[in-house]
Amino acid sequence: MAATEKLAVMGGKPVRTAPWPKWPLFTEQDVADLGAVLRDGRLTSITGPKVREFEEAFAAKFETRHALATCNGVTALHLAIAALGIGPGDEVIVPAHTFIGTAIPVLMANAVPVFVDVDLESFNIDPAKIEAAITERTKALLPVHLNGLAADLQAIQALAAKHGLFLIEDACQAHGGQYRGRTLGTLGRIGAFSFFEDKVMTTGEGGMLITDDAALYERARRLRSYGEELVTSIGERKYEHTALGFNYRMSALNAALGLNQLPRLEAMVAKRNRNAAYLREGLEKVPGIIPPKEVPGCRHAYYKFVCRIDREVLELDALTAVEAIKAEGVAATPRYPTPLPLQKVFREKIGYGGTDCPYGCRRYGREPAFLTGSWPVAERIGKEAFVLLVHPSIEEPDLQDAVRAVRKVADHYRK
Ligand SMILES: Cc1ncc(COP(=O)(O)O)c(C=O)c1O
Repeated sequence: MAATEKLAVMGGKPVRTAPWPKWPLFTEQDVADLGAVLRDGRLTSITGPKVREFEEAFAAKFETRHALATCNGVTALHLAIAALGIGPGDEVIVPAHTFIGTAIPVLMANAVPVFVDVDLESFNIDPAKIEAAITERTKALLPVHLNGLAADLQAIQALAAKHGLFLIEDACQAHGGQYRGRTLGTLGRIGAFSFFEDKVMTTGEGGMLITDDAALYERARRLRSYGEELVTSIGERKYEHTALGFNYRMSALNAALGLNQLPRLEAMVAKRNRNAAYLREGLEKVPGIIPPKEVPGCRHAYYKFVCRIDREVLELDALTAVEAIKAEGVAATPRYPTPLPLQKVFREKIGYGGTDCPYGCRRYGREPAFLTGSWPVAERIGKEAFVLLVHPSIEEPDLQDAVRAVRKVADHYRK
């Protein structure tokens, strides 16, 4: 009987010894195109056309008027916040269970992130808890489509409209995902994507800001490159600086990779969904393991396949599960075990230059507290959630091993 199988972590025979499939995989076309950029020698968006080509292709694919490429997702979000004029003394509402890359851009703008608890099943910000967090200082709602699943945008849009707040979508994990037939990232005032190496589409490092608002786009474009007055032709520069800007530009090498990823996006998301469906079917039969939620009408991008442990059924926490599944030879990771606001950097309000700035900023005048117990669902998810992988290089035998490994671990820890 399965329950008697000795776990690999306890010295038993692992389910699998073969290495886990690599991701991302690049093509010969990618290699050729990188070579072509190098031979061309124009590696920047200032000197060459490649980044612009990628932006135009991205805008066309995502059916948005404007796309602005950046060096990563954090800087795309920072540009979004800065272009909206959000700064010292302002608050932005973010989920308590997400990657730190959602909240850091708020602090980069010298504003303060206000954390709201999430929904246990979707892992996304809980709209029912947003209103209580809105103050006269709130300027924007910054929901995340975590793991690739759309946040509850209808409720969030209604709150944004009611309170006159900007809606910024953190779509860094959700390329190609949809909400009621509409592409994630296009439903708010601005959307932001990351192209980090393991993302649904990648340029190695990279990011993209999208918006239909021409004025906002122009502001973000200026801020992306040293607040420099814009030129119309590539290769030209004015050295006139009219805004406090940064250097968040993407290089042509990253853009060349991005151009090749775009036509593959649909197929990659479809494969992720097929892999997820296979895992779901296998894991639904394992008592104590709760596969990720799907929402009718919303296409999941399946950046990660995040399961939850039912601790009424299993005597098991997420970190123990991850160690045991990994020992069986199957890739698994915890999912944000510490809620973001309970990370030391927030608990101790570690700010700029060793001070508590911007929390203690005189323009702010409030005293946020980052206390255990304030975000109980995020804390619970941290103890119960673990990640399995569904990236496109994973095939059925790998998924079979993943189901077997999880079942073996669950059987061992059943109450
Ligand atoms: C939800 C979320 N927001 C923001 C980011 C920041 O993106 P990057 O790492 O490209 O800066 C990431 C990804 O890493 C993310 O997952």
